[in-house]
Amino acid sequence: MTLTMKHIFKKGTNPDLPVLLLLHGTGGNENDLLPLAEMLAPEASVLGVRGNVSENGMPRFFRRLAEGVFDEPDLIARTHELNTFLDAAAEEYGFDRRKIIAVGYSNGANIAASLLFHDVQSLQGAILHHAMVPLRSIELPDLAGIPVFMGSGTNDPIIPRAESEELGTLLANAGADVQMHWENSGHQLTATEVQAAAAWYAAKIS
Ligand code: MLT
Repeated sequence: MTLTMKHIFKKGTNPDLPVLLLLHGTGGNENDLLPLAEMLAPEASVLGVRGNVSENGMPRFFRRLAEGVFDEPDLIARTHELNTFLDAAAEEYGFDRRKIIAVGYSNGANIAASLLFHDVQSLQGAILHHAMVPLRSIELPDLAGIPVFMGSGTNDPIIPRAESEELGTLLANAGADVQMHWENSGHQLTATEVQAAAAWYAAKIS
């Protein structure tokens, strides 16, 4: 299998820990979230991936028609592309495909949520920073036991509070073990939100 997405893989010192899959926001790249991995689990292997879509030169994981309006066929195709890439990366780098924790911000969190919506085996768990409901046209698989941390802003101009709550409810109704964390902030990722994600990781994953 060929690796069809630009990425960086850093082998960790503890191969028993799940691999942290880093998924950037619009305009980001595979290196953006490396500091988060360092805070969550400095000993874990890290796979940072760059979205294959370009919006006026800004990398994304799938196309959108307008802010908050997603190109659903592209989102679905790109979700499968990322899932298949993860199969190939696990083979190439020799890690356990069943042990991947996604760490996504904004557009990256949306495709991580879409992975969970499509395939219960895609991720062992997920940290979703400022995610939206990726799509409403499918029935979620049984996500029993999958731990999900959601960090959201009460004043996020892109994501209404009700939409964050809707995503949390959809995942929880599918059986996921969802922890919601709220910041009195907008769309940006704050230090306190990252600290809350690290506390969740310490309690649920390591
Ligand atoms: C998106 O996927 O479009 C986001 O949630 C917003 C963004 O990435 O700017």
